[in-house]
Amino acid sequence: MDTPIIDGAATRLRHEVLAARAHTDALFRLVAPEVLYDRPIPDRHRLIFYVGHLDAFDWNQLGRDVLERPPFHPTFDRLFEAGIDPPPGQAPADTPADWPALREVQAYVARTRQALDDGWDEFPAERVLTALEHRWMHAETLCYLLHELAPALKRSPGPATVATPGSSLQGPRNDHWVPVEAGRAALGQAGGFGWDNEFPRRWVSVKAFELARFKVTNGDYLKFVDAGATPSHFWCRRDGQWWLRRMFDEIPLPLEAPVYLTHDQASAYAAWTGARLPTEAEWQLAGYGGAERRYPWGDSPADAARANLDFAAWDPWPVMATPAGDTPSGLAQMVGNGWEWTATPFERYDGFAPRAYYPGYSANFFDGEHFVLKGGSPRTAQRIARPSFRNWFRREYPYVYATARLARA
Ligand SMILES: [Fe+2]
Repeated sequence: MDTPIIDGAATRLRHEVLAARAHTDALFRLVAPEVLYDRPIPDRHRLIFYVGHLDAFDWNQLGRDVLERPPFHPTFDRLFEAGIDPPPGQAPADTPADWPALREVQAYVARTRQALDDGWDEFPAERVLTALEHRWMHAETLCYLLHELAPALKRSPGPATVATPGSSLQGPRNDHWVPVEAGRAALGQAGGFGWDNEFPRRWVSVKAFELARFKVTNGDYLKFVDAGATPSHFWCRRDGQWWLRRMFDEIPLPLEAPVYLTHDQASAYAAWTGARLPTEAEWQLAGYGGAERRYPWGDSPADAARANLDFAAWDPWPVMATPAGDTPSGLAQMVGNGWEWTATPFERYDGFAPRAYYPGYSANFFDGEHFVLKGGSPRTAQRIARPSFRNWFRREYPYVYATARLARA
């Protein structure tokens, strides 16, 4: 575990840490300072917590634990140490006045960075990657928080660097099924960096089944809503019409884009159509073929022609927009454009061992209430979107960029 970083790798990692810091700093600048004291999601902390949290995590992990430096602000080290995920009905009740001033938090952040930037060559690679991926994961979940703020409270960074690909179909019917032959799915990983829940590697036998070629679209789910189901949290209704609440604006509901749903909604929709959600092992076998390829399409990089991933966009594209990213068997967008809920509760693999330096990362969530998601969203860093990565959220949590893909038989 304590492999020292070799020089070239250290330089690359250090540059990526600087890039990730710049990325999350820019996210906080999307809103005015006073808005950082808002709590856009009732069962998460106020935004100001995250301003301190990302660097408190780095400092607690690297400065205090690895370098064994004395704390310079133990109150903030604890205040900003860990986020929350309370059961329904137990949202926190703190007020903006309970939090320190932004300038104090920013001074703490600056000091932690200065302290850590002296010590790069002393950090084991695994510890740097833990801090780095922690920040990249928050780069996505910060978007979930910012998404809940009214567009008028956010400064759009300007047009997307990648234009939304056009679609040639009007509301594709999701009646294209791809057969997946029986096989052995490779879950987890054997080596390299990963979080505790990705180990140890295990092989799972999967029976033959069929998987939908495309993710479930807004158009598909609209029929379910018309039959009485609850709408997506990302929809709103105005003047008798459905609109999509995007990060910086609202647009008439794009029928061909994937619908963002809770696990409960996704399961109910699947049952309504006579289908079901795939298990984690089924999804893995379909997406990666049991083989060792980096992405569902192969080993080519995850550029915007293949996937709406790695911050290519703020919002989803049509489900047929990236054909170059199909699997060899024709499954579209297994990675990017929205995480996909599986039917599998988030549980430990046999032989699971928590990391001594972060024991609660996964173990606090093995409760049957959280479900595994696979794939990735427009706001998922490419580093995170590796075959073994497992995301998880509460079954009724509606704020995630998460959609569904149907399985049958
Ligand atoms: Fe965190």
